[in-house]
Amino acid sequence: MDLKQYIAIVPNWPKDGVIFKDVTPLMNDGAAFKYATDQIVQYAKNKNIDLVVGPEARGFIIGCPVAYELGVGFAPVRKEGKLPRETIRAEYDLEYGKAVLTIHKDAIKPGQRVLITDDLLATGGTMQATIKLVEELGGVVAGLAFLIELNYLHGREKLQGYDILTLMKYENE
Ligand code: PRP
Ligand code: MG
Repeated sequence: MDLKQYIAIVPNWPKDGVIFKDVTPLMNDGAAFKYATDQIVQYAKNKNIDLVVGPEARGFIIGCPVAYELGVGFAPVRKEGKLPRETIRAEYDLEYGKAVLTIHKDAIKPGQRVLITDDLLATGGTMQATIKLVEELGGVVAGLAFLIELNYLHGREKLQGYDILTLMKYENE
């Protein structure tokens, strides 16, 4: 299946000069969403995953059906101020600005093998912060899975040494 057919290209959003890749048509199509989910599940199957972690908001949408299929739990990474109990935090640079991600301190047991999911690898800042949170809690990052990789933003360079699956790559804007 050619998943790129389900990505809407939106020029000048959220600001002038950015060509936004919108994954919502893919999520909106049952067959395409299932195909993409199945690809990630296949990738994860022989990795002995104990837990899926995803950063809000789009990382939840990708991660939850994968966790369900693998029969493991899901732990949310959230923007600051959203999680009600004791958290740890990691700062990161976004493609457009700065932010903080948090996770509950008891979300991961030391030694658990974690698959991290998100919709998009752009500059890699979100994933780098998410990895930091997982590892600080003693999790072992066994794989990173994305729908889209924007090669021209070189996010992969921040993620050296990690096993990465991306279902679609864009070489240039
Ligand atoms: C987007 C996207 C990724 C991240 C990728 O999330 O869903 O999580 O940016 O960018 P990076 O590789 O440069 O860090 P965003 O923070 O816009 O929020 P959302 O998922 O809640 O929409
Ligand atoms: Mg996101």
